[in-house]
Amino acid sequence: MLVSLPKAADALAASGLSSATYSDIEPNPTDISVTQGVEVYKAEACDVVIAVGGGSVMDAAKAIRLLATHEPPAGEVSNLAPYYADVGGVERIRGDMPPLICVPTTAGTGSEVSQGSIITDTSLQTTDRWRKRAIVTPFNMANIALLDPGITLGMPSALTAATGMDAITHGIEAYVATKYHPIAEGVALQALRMLSANIQQVYHNGEDVTARGEMLFGSCMAAFSFQKGLGAVHSLAHQLSTDAPIPHGIANAILLPPVMEFNFSHANEKYAEVARALGIDTRDMEIDEAGYAAIDKIRAFNAELKMPAGLGDAGLDRGKIPKLGADAMLDHCHKFNPRVCTEEDMVALFEAAF
Ligand SMILES: [Fe+2]
Repeated sequence: MLVSLPKAADALAASGLSSATYSDIEPNPTDISVTQGVEVYKAEACDVVIAVGGGSVMDAAKAIRLLATHEPPAGEVSNLAPYYADVGGVERIRGDMPPLICVPTTAGTGSEVSQGSIITDTSLQTTDRWRKRAIVTPFNMANIALLDPGITLGMPSALTAATGMDAITHGIEAYVATKYHPIAEGVALQALRMLSANIQQVYHNGEDVTARGEMLFGSCMAAFSFQKGLGAVHSLAHQLSTDAPIPHGIANAILLPPVMEFNFSHANEKYAEVARALGIDTRDMEIDEAGYAAIDKIRAFNAELKMPAGLGDAGLDRGKIPKLGADAMLDHCHKFNPRVCTEEDMVALFEAAF
């Protein structure tokens, strides 16, 4: 939120620290805005990166600090080209980057504790449109994350809903992801308890600072938990922010129920556990009944939070689905989905969510 930016600059000045501001970061940040940010960083002789904003700002900040110390090999089409996860970038990323302080202004992305940075690669020649790509490294996690619920008090209800459903999607996808990581699973369930208990309250009463704090910590924990992996919802949703502009959290909210149904035969017991974390009394339910109750609860949240009824309602051109389905297969997230996805599955899931 822009109002937070001068506050941060004033606080630094009051401590005798000089700062430069770079704020030309668009939603779904591109490699172009990252490159411009690096130019500002170097021109101003900075030595720390402070990200004040939502997921786009924090993801761009991670890429800016990466390029502050990592020179691209000659001949690459993009400064970030060698560092994307899908070309083995993790092996090329060193820890000698400037310190990163993250101050999230939304409760959803959890980028302050995630290892990922999602950047829209404008240089791609292999597809006929820009595509989101991930830079993934343990060094991407912020050195310091400042979680101040007061900053999120002014968040509009629609943004509160979308970012909150992004966080819930993180918790559910991480909990059922295929990597073995019992610590992350425990954190995911606690995150889901906190998020589901407070998302309606912050949507209807955005000035409740206690509920805002629960959402902020819940989103942070859900992001921590997706060190275990994410799933097909994110691979699909990542295709919907570049040329089919549906905000990430809204895309997740719409896609989550059909993906849970697709995964059900491979994750029913875990979905029953998710139902309990979402506050459903499952004591008299069979496992499958409890698992389906979790899906119903997501649909109930979507209705109450006034999410679009489907991707068509959200603005997707149905004719783009075959291309988007093919691109979803290129995204790294579905590798940890409990059920293996084919390109036909991706297309069918887009259709089911339409
Ligand atoms: Fe997300």
